[in-house]
Formats: sequence, structure tokens, C-alpha cells
Amino acid sequence: MQIGPFKLASPVVLAPMAGVTDMAFRSLCRQQERELTGTVSGLYVCEMITARALVERNDKTLKMTEFAPDEDPRSMQLYTTDPEWTERAARMIAEEDIADHLDLNFGCPVPKVTRRGGGAALPYKRRLFADIIAAAVRGVAGTNIPVTVKFRVGIDAEHHTHLDAGRIAADMGAAAVALHGRTAAQRYSGKADWAEIARLKEHMDGTGIPVLGNGDIFAASDARTMMAETGCDGVVIGRGCLGRPWLFAQISADLNGGEIPEPPTLAALADIMLRHAQLMADADDEARACRDIRKHIGWYLRGYPAGGELRSQLSRVSSLEQLDSLLDVLRTGDHADARPADADGPRGRQGSPGKVVLPEGWLDDPEDRTVPVGADVMNSGG
Ligand SMILES: Cc1cc2nc3c(=O)[nH]c(=O)nc-3n(C[C@H](O)[C@H](O)[C@H](O)COP(=O)(O)O)c2cc1C
Repeated sequence: MQIGPFKLASPVVLAPMAGVTDMAFRSLCRQQERELTGTVSGLYVCEMITARALVERNDKTLKMTEFAPDEDPRSMQLYTTDPEWTERAARMIAEEDIADHLDLNFGCPVPKVTRRGGGAALPYKRRLFADIIAAAVRGVAGTNIPVTVKFRVGIDAEHHTHLDAGRIAADMGAAAVALHGRTAAQRYSGKADWAEIARLKEHMDGTGIPVLGNGDIFAASDARTMMAETGCDGVVIGRGCLGRPWLFAQISADLNGGEIPEPPTLAALADIMLRHAQLMADADDEARACRDIRKHIGWYLRGYPAGGELRSQLSRVSSLEQLDSLLDVLRTGDHADARPADADGPRGRQGSPGKVVLPEGWLDDPEDRTVPVGADVMNSGG
């Protein structure tokens, strides 16, 4: 699959996930792919970066734009609601050589974002949506940086926006689009509607840009199934890789006709968990790494025979040394050679559907291109 100048040997993309896809996690996924398949073939996108916070050089935001020295291409997602900030952020990224690929986030369903017209609410405003994409493309003009756009099916079952969004993105110069097969009202509940991915792919016929499918790829073979069922050109993997950084290696192997590598044994998993924490400590500091690894522990251990007491100790870990010695119990215990059972089901947030909170009168005029007020300052996503 080709995204702008980048030819991906496997059409597999790590979904941007706030609080998850930091430099450490991306490095770990890439290391796993290299170790298990001999190569790094997919695209690994960073946590979303708020365009305005980037331009204003917010310290935390700038820290989030760091990439590992061997990350290539450096893939960055921007959250944005305003053409002007978008263009400034894109220009800054180009001029200061911050990233090689720019993805725009129009999928966030959280109420604090949609209530101001941001995230998944925005594509409803067709002209504003077009203005923002055009601004990003203008901002990187003269470089090789492709702009891609990620969105949902729409606001709710009555207000689908994805078909227009795909066409508009292509018209404005986007190099690819990715569709999460849920509406904002669905949040992460129920099942992603892959039929809508197929519809979008069909609708984009003739635009010449790839359509990526996203939603509910949990098992390695799901990617192939989604591509076969929808005709999409590539896949974007979110929650399925939580606690499973080896999933990209498995999917790439499967798509390239190879044998799917087995998930690690419990002993090998212990090493992966430690490596993850060490990578976080290298990127930041040890205390922070220990705090951040805790949320990954449950995901990692899902399906493995690890006792409740150990799980709970691991989820309170406060130093790398302590983590290492707790992990020794897994490395040397009776189940050291065990592999996970029933770990291929849904994981990560699921929640329940809910009415999408929108600014007053938001649905009245899809052509209104007024920039929503106060929607551009959030620094978290979903
Ligand atoms: C913890 C978490 C954080 C997320 N953060 C972002 C984000 O920053 N930008 C974005 O476009 N999507 C974000 N998403 C949505 C995912 O990129 C993806 O579209 C969604 O999880 C559906 O794919 P999946 O079924 O493979 O998980 C997030 C999802 C999760 C679970």
C-alpha cells in the first residue's frame, strides 16, 4: 500500500491512541515486528497532538512529538478544528522537520470534544472539514509529507458523514483515509460495521487514494478477513494490540502469506513487559514509567495463567527493579512455558452507546464553515 511517498510492505497501521501509542509503545511494536518477521513493514502513528498546543509550543505537547531515532516514517496525528491553527501546525511540522506523515483526527467521540464541535462532530460541517484538510495540505506544500484523514461513520445512525468525508478528503489532497466503522454515538460499543467500510471503499472508487478499515481487528486473521470482506486497502489496529505488541508481526506475516508467529510464552512475555517499562523510563523517567506501565499490566496478562495476587502487585509497581523481580515469578514459575488462551476477543474500552452532545444548532446547517469556539485546546483523545 502506498501512502504518499511511503510504500508499506504490509498495509498495517498502528492506530493513534492517546495515552498508549507513545514512543516506547511504538518502539516495542516495531521491535516485535523486526524480531518475529525480520522487517518493519507497517506504519506506527503517535498519540494525537493538538494543533494549537503544538504551535504554542506547549512543553507536554512538544515532548509527545518525539520519535525514536530509527522511526521511519515518523507518523504524527493532529487533533484540530480550525483551518488557521491547522495550517500553522502543518507548516511548523514541515519547516522544523518534526514528522514525515500527518494524520488528522476526526474520530474522537468524547463529549468534552463533540460538545464544542470537535472530533467526530466536525465532518458534519462539510465546508469546514474541507477547509481544515486543505489547510493541512497547504501547510506541508513543497514537502513529501502526506496528509491522511481518520474519521468515523458519522454522528449517529441518522447522520452519517463518512461518504462525503472520504470524497472531500480526496478532493482536498489527502493521501489516504481511514474509517472506524462506528458512529460517535456508538463510542466503542457493539460491533464495528465493516459494511460501511465496504461502502466507503466503493464510494471512493476512482479517487486513487487508499481506504483503510478500522474497528474490531482483535485476532491476527481478522485483518485478512476485513480486507477480503470490505475490499479496503489496509487496516488500522487499535485496541487489539493493547498488551499485544506482537500483533503487527502476526498480521504482517499472515497478509504476506507466512505462518503466523505464536504469541510469546509467559516467560517471554515477562521480558516484553520489562522492555516496555524500560523504554518508557528511557523516554521519560523511572517513576513515570512505573506509573504508566501499570495500565498495560492487565492487558498483557489477559489469557495467561498469572495469579491474582501477582497481578495486583504488578499493578502497584513502583520501580523497575521491583518490576523485574516480580516478573521473575512468571519467568521461573510452573507456567513459564504457557501461551495465552482465549485472548483474541475484544479488549480495551468498550462502554455503551450514548447520545452525542453537540453545540446548539450544530445540525442545522451542514454547509456552515464557522470555526467552533473552544474546541481546539483539548489534549486528550479517544
Ligand atoms: C485508549 C484509546 C485512545 C484513543 N486515542 C485516539 C486518538 O488519539 N486519535 C484517534 O484518531 N483515535 C483514537 N482512538 C481510536 C482508535 O484509533 C481506533 O479508531 C478505535 O479504537 C477503533 O479501532 P479498534 O477497534 O481497533 O480499537 C483511541 C482509542 C483508544 C482505545
